[in-house]
Amino acid sequence: MIRYNIPDLIQCLNTEVEDALIDRMPSLTVVGSQWGDEGKGKIVDYLAEDAQFVVRFQGGNNAGHSVKIGEELFKLHHLPSGILRRGKFSVIGNGVVIDPGVLIQELDGLESRGVSTKNLRISERAHVIMPYHKLLDGTEERLKRGSRVGTTGRGIGPAYSDKASRIGVRMCDLVEEEVLSEKLAFLIPHKQRLLEFYDDSTRLDENKILREYSEYGKRLRAHVTDTGALIGSALAKNKNVLFEGAQGTMLDIDHGTYPYVTSSLTVAANAASGSGVPPSAIGDVYGVMKAYTTRVGEGPFPTELCDDIGSKIAEKGGEFGTTTGRSRRCGWLDLVVTKYSHSLNGFTGIAMTKIDVLGGFDKIKICTHYRLDGKKVTRFPTDLRVLQRCEPVYKTLRGWEEIEGKRLENILAKGFRALPGTMKEYIRFVEKEMSVPVSVLGLGRRRNELLDFRKKKWKAK
Ligand code: IMP
Repeated sequence: MIRYNIPDLIQCLNTEVEDALIDRMPSLTVVGSQWGDEGKGKIVDYLAEDAQFVVRFQGGNNAGHSVKIGEELFKLHHLPSGILRRGKFSVIGNGVVIDPGVLIQELDGLESRGVSTKNLRISERAHVIMPYHKLLDGTEERLKRGSRVGTTGRGIGPAYSDKASRIGVRMCDLVEEEVLSEKLAFLIPHKQRLLEFYDDSTRLDENKILREYSEYGKRLRAHVTDTGALIGSALAKNKNVLFEGAQGTMLDIDHGTYPYVTSSLTVAANAASGSGVPPSAIGDVYGVMKAYTTRVGEGPFPTELCDDIGSKIAEKGGEFGTTTGRSRRCGWLDLVVTKYSHSLNGFTGIAMTKIDVLGGFDKIKICTHYRLDGKKVTRFPTDLRVLQRCEPVYKTLRGWEEIEGKRLENILAKGFRALPGTMKEYIRFVEKEMSVPVSVLGLGRRRNELLDFRKKKWKAK
């Protein structure tokens, strides 16, 4: 039995972090510390309470956030989670790729449920996901055979490829029919040839695409603006700005498990570039960390549990993708992953989610390092062939009982001290290993089912 006696650890870490941050700009960046699906939606929704601006800076509708408010479940793909909070500005930054048809559907869906979307602002620099991107996403995946990434099929990779190849369509083009028409006159024959090369017989109808997409442009025009300037002026006026990351650090195109990654930079540094503001605007960085690990799609996953425990976690945690409905692979928390993630993001706080899902297990494991050829590995390997040969080494901690009903209510009312002792040990162990305090703890699906240990909070404005 392991006991971690780390008195006042949270207190001490919080104080150090707070002293260092006193003069920072009033912004907060929230990113996933694992392979996505860490529960960022719920955390951002909560933290957005005192923000005036919530900004998405990368990814597209490959993301999926579920937020439960009362008995109502909201599933968002394109829109920042802050859209569910009245009176906030929700911003889709220049680093995002947008499927305009999907975005409009999402807007209509929210409006029909009484959620106002008039405060949405979309960057004129954001790139548009076109129909051929979606076709090519599927075709290119199929051709990869043994090395499929398992993409969400939403056209994300091809849209970012066109951006990098400088043949993308931006929102400022979408809202100008003439410009769009000129671009399509080159792009459609080009993409048609590419589809033919890939033996895809789909015919692209240029006129139809122009009609459909210029309608989208008209519909979205009122929301499209220079969002970098907007956020910059909000920061200058000391408004509270929350940058909301999508996916997770291990899916980052540069730093993740390449090629089993998404096509954008998911790390906190990109909150600046993907929103059009300076790096000094990023502020505090919270890493959202599920109390265990999941990943969807292909790619290495050292602590994956292909047994009954993995299935039990998946079932209890409802681990099915919001975007594709695919079941997520589950495993124990991997500190090699989260420490690597911290080295890239510089977390000032951890938002630990879904700790309730681990309730009812006798023993809970945490991977502290890997072992390769008899040697200890603490840094996440770059080469996936090396990673595949690594064996996770675990620390076994005692589990805790299920947290529900009256017990949960009591914890929510009384806070940290009311948590089961073994859960406290789990949290403290993670904090000590990461040298980062757990600032927010998610204990259930609902909006209010979390504990907030932050000492430094935004002032509501
Ligand atoms: P893409 O982003 O659709 O190109 O997919 C690339 C990889 O990232 C695949 O393994 C996807 O399953 C994964 N992925 C993309 N978006 C998310 C997400 O929001 N959560 C978890 N995994 C994601």
